[in-house]
Order: sequence, then C-alpha cells, then structure tokens
Amino acid sequence: VEPLVIAIDGPGGSGKSTVAASLATAMSLPVLSTGVFFRAVAWGLADTGVDDAQVDDWFDRHSVAVEGQLGVVDGVVLTDELRSPVVQVSLSKVAASPRVRSHVLDLERREIERLGECVVEGRDIGSVVWPHASCKFFLAARQEVRLRRRPEEGPKLFERDRKDSIRAHAPLVIADDAFIVDNSDDAVDELVIRMRELIGVRT
Ligand code: C5P
Repeated sequence: VEPLVIAIDGPGGSGKSTVAASLATAMSLPVLSTGVFFRAVAWGLADTGVDDAQVDDWFDRHSVAVEGQLGVVDGVVLTDELRSPVVQVSLSKVAASPRVRSHVLDLERREIERLGECVVEGRDIGSVVWPHASCKFFLAARQEVRLRRRPEEGPKLFERDRKDSIRAHAPLVIADDAFIVDNSDDAVDELVIRMRELIGVRT
C-alpha cells in the first residue's frame, strides 16, 4: 500500500496552512507547506532574473529546504523574509517559471518520499505533485474572509490568485477527485473532524 498522503490545495487566504497544521496534529503526521519553497526561491532569485539559464544556474549553486514554515537557503533560515515586499512582488513570476517549477517539483517529491505519511499543502499537489494522493481537498473561502486573513497583502492577494490560476504550468485547479471544502464560517476543529471522516471514506 502507498503511504498516506493528504493533499490540500486552494488559493491564498483559504486557510490551507492553518487547516493543514491542525489536521496534521490531529493525525500525528508531519506537514509540508510547499509555498515556502517558492517563497524561498523568490528570495534567492531577487538579485538575479528568472531567465531559464539564470534559474538553472541558481539551483546549481544553492540549496533550498523547507522546515515547517521556515525556508532554508544554503543553510540560512528565512522567516520574515518570506513575506517581505521583495518576495511579494516577484512571487507570481517566479512560481510561473517552468524551470523553477521543475526544480521545486523534484524537491517536493523527494521531501514527500522522505516524510512518508504526511499532509501537503499548496496549489498543485493533487493535480501535479502527488496525483495519487490518498485523499485530496480543495479549500475555498469567500473573498472578504480571505482578505481578512491576509491584511498585510490586501487586494493584491486576488491578483496573485489570478496569476496562479492562469499560468501555463501547473496552474491552481481543482483536481477531479478532490473534496471541495468551504471554510469561511467553520471553526477549524469542526473542519478537521469533517475532513477526517472524508479521509476515512477514501482510505
Ligand atoms: O501558499 P503560499 O501563499 O505561501 O504560496 C506562495 C506562492 O507560491 C503562491 O501564490 C504560488 O504562486 C506559489 N505556489 C505554487 N505551487 C504550490 C505552492 C505555492 O505555485 N504548490
């Protein structure tokens, strides 16, 4: 049998990281937040460009890892940097680069294999990164709720989602076999109970 991998995708501010963390705790599983990879790479590439050659060269010379909500580039831990203006402005462009996505895909898959059973959250986990996930969720929330959760980003959040959704490579999509869960109004605990019931149905 395949190790249990729970995929959670959804737009910014949909509650993915909170829900993923609570679900993982409830099930005693580790959680992988894949957005941290893209944020760490966006930070690393800030002084370079995102031409294919520049991207490949950067990945040749640098190491990227994710530990919880921390990014680690060349052994240096990144925290606040991951939500800094430098990262916010280039994030969508970096995440749309096919070369970046190809390098990050390798890292994501290797990390999931290393973790074994885990909860993974992102934009393309159920569709691209781990299409055979044991159970897939797509989190949704009303716009005003998402805005309230990301006050530092403001309406730019919707612009980032739009770019995530229309990009050519691994756009934000709802996988055919994903459960769509709206969490605008529910308490996280209740949501986790519902999700565990659905995981039970699939596994
Ligand atoms: O989840 P978070 O807001 O940290 O993700 C930051 C950005 O990283 C997203 O807006 C998206 O462009 C990119 N991303 C992605 N694929 C993933 C996770 C994140 O393209 N699996």
